[in-house]
Amino acid sequence: MTMASAPGKIILFGEHAVVSGTAALGGAIDLRARAIVQSLPGRILIETDDLSLRGFSLDLSTGEIRSASAAYATRYVSAVLKELGARDVRVMIESDIPPAAGLGSSASIVVATVAALNGHLGLELSQKEIAALSYRIEKEVQKGRGSPMDTALATYGGYQRIADDNQRLDLPPLEMVVGYTRLPHDTFSLVEKVQLLKERYPDLVGPIFQAIGAISERAAPLIREQRLKDLGELMDINHGLLEALGVGSRELSELVYAARNTGGALGAKLTGAGGGGCMIALPGMAGKDALLVALRQARGMAFAAMMGCEGVRLE
Ligand code: MEV
Repeated sequence: MTMASAPGKIILFGEHAVVSGTAALGGAIDLRARAIVQSLPGRILIETDDLSLRGFSLDLSTGEIRSASAAYATRYVSAVLKELGARDVRVMIESDIPPAAGLGSSASIVVATVAALNGHLGLELSQKEIAALSYRIEKEVQKGRGSPMDTALATYGGYQRIADDNQRLDLPPLEMVVGYTRLPHDTFSLVEKVQLLKERYPDLVGPIFQAIGAISERAAPLIREQRLKDLGELMDINHGLLEALGVGSRELSELVYAARNTGGALGAKLTGAGGGGCMIALPGMAGKDALLVALRQARGMAFAAMMGCEGVRLE
């Protein structure tokens, strides 16, 4: 049996604009997905523990999906198995990361599965190869849309600046409070919606992307020097720009305003693709507990997450 785990992520700044090449900044968090691979002669079996699908099974002789579930995790694991030509295996997925919430659960599943199969099959892929392969697989499942942000963070951990390439940033851990709207979102259609808006209004959306990229570039020194008030201000500005791109929602706004007005947050913004999914808030003087209470009162699911955690590892 081989087990690997990979972290989820928070995008601090730069979502959507990063798809068109401006800078984004994200950190790996202390929620993880785990892939457990075992030999299973003659079959391929994919099981997931708490992701609403169980017992997906592919009959090798006919290629027929015997008990398919619509849940997305299976698509990613199947794509990894296909890419690596893996047969005669059982892959079990467990995850702490809510799916379709903007916390990188699909990338964590892909990276953990690639790493576990790498160990099981003795492929000797380097970390760089795991990141590149995982990005290719995730992008293919998402029909060509998306940035390497999630798979880079799931692989390398810590913090990453993403633009044309990935750059690991050496920054101290940062505690965030995450508010989950309980509404799943579809990253693919939200990315497509924003990219179409850019095609229709290049003169308007282009400068918004540039402003988002500029915010991302300002962030690293603020985290390094612990200038958290300034960092919070940038979060608020970035949220406004994402609203302008049409990826906000009433549910997200309610949590953002609860965090700022009741929870004493230094700043708050949506994180990930938007629509539903999650927002993040930077605790102020009142600390993370005040924020957790404020977000729960506003009907969000709330938890604290530490940014800057370890990347993929064999367990
Ligand atoms: C999704 O987590 C972040 C987006 O920028 C898409 C991407 O970067 O792949 C919306």
